[in-house]
Amino acid sequence: MTGPRQTQRLSADDAGIAAAAELLRAGKLVALPTETVYGLAADASDDRAVASIYAAKERPSFNPLISHLPDVNAARRQGLFDAPALALAKAFWPGPLTLVVPASSSCTVCSLARAGLDSVALRVPSHLVARAVLQAAGRPIAAPSANRSGRVSPTQAEHVFADLDRRIDAVLDAGPTAVGVESSIVACLGGAPRLLRPGGVPRAALEAAIGQALVIVEEGGTAPLAPGLLASHYAPRAAVRLDAEAPRPGEAWLGFGPEPDGALPALAFNLSPSGDLTEAAANLFAAMRHLDDQRPATIAIAPIPMRGLGEAINDRLRRAAAPR
Ligand code: TXA
Ligand code: MG
Repeated sequence: MTGPRQTQRLSADDAGIAAAAELLRAGKLVALPTETVYGLAADASDDRAVASIYAAKERPSFNPLISHLPDVNAARRQGLFDAPALALAKAFWPGPLTLVVPASSSCTVCSLARAGLDSVALRVPSHLVARAVLQAAGRPIAAPSANRSGRVSPTQAEHVFADLDRRIDAVLDAGPTAVGVESSIVACLGGAPRLLRPGGVPRAALEAAIGQALVIVEEGGTAPLAPGLLASHYAPRAAVRLDAEAPRPGEAWLGFGPEPDGALPALAFNLSPSGDLTEAAANLFAAMRHLDDQRPATIAIAPIPMRGLGEAINDRLRRAAAPR
């Protein structure tokens, strides 16, 4: 991955906030303070900027990311809030709570940030510097914790530099974060709200706000999830054939790099003709959806190298190909 040569340290004053927002609007990566942990922020509406988050973190898989908004009204333009979601937003926003809700028809969070799902994770942080940047950026900002994959979440600018120096454009330094653990995540997707991740808001407080117990979903747990309700991974309807040298008759084709000899089917897309893995990651979910929407029986997919973002792309493709 070719990152910026320098990671700027911005101070948490008007000039630093304006510079951070400007970088985000230009598709760059900026570590932002929130009340929980520092987030590695990028324009959530820009697939390519979001792909560069995964590249900088060296994340081996594409989990859906949280999109940050400056206030409740901005969040409500991105998602559909049922009664429990509204009650939680009213009680805890701004603050360390993330709500997973169905994406609205006006949602501008890109498909990579949503990992191809129809739902979207939204959060209105309370940190004043974060809110000022979000206000100035004027678009949803995706931000997972600003650490390299497998390392602990950063609660100080120095932690971010230790993990991501020269891999991101700037760190907006506002001193240590207050909460230190990530936001609580509650899914409100119809039916009983579910706690996907315990975090900065205690469970009892969440339950008091909605007047009912939360269903607890343990990550990687064995409890079966209702299909479509909480599916954390988008799976195409079509069968998927990986590491295909060329499409067979009747297959749709998802290429990468130079195309194989011979005619391609009408239903074909190339993730990156030049073989750029960041571009391929940015195109992945939208391309899969585009092909799958035409209802092919099988999508054949060219081999994707395992370097850089290739690991995360292959992880995603293996899941898409898994029997179901
Ligand atoms: O405190 C925080 O929440 C920090 C700060 C920076 O805001 N952010 C953070 O983001 O922890 P991230 O992207 O690392 O957390 C994403 C979590 C993952 O566990 C992911 O599975 C879940 O949110 N998530 C996001 N979208 C989802 C969706 N549509 N359905 C289910 N889970 C979702
Ligand atoms: Mg994290």
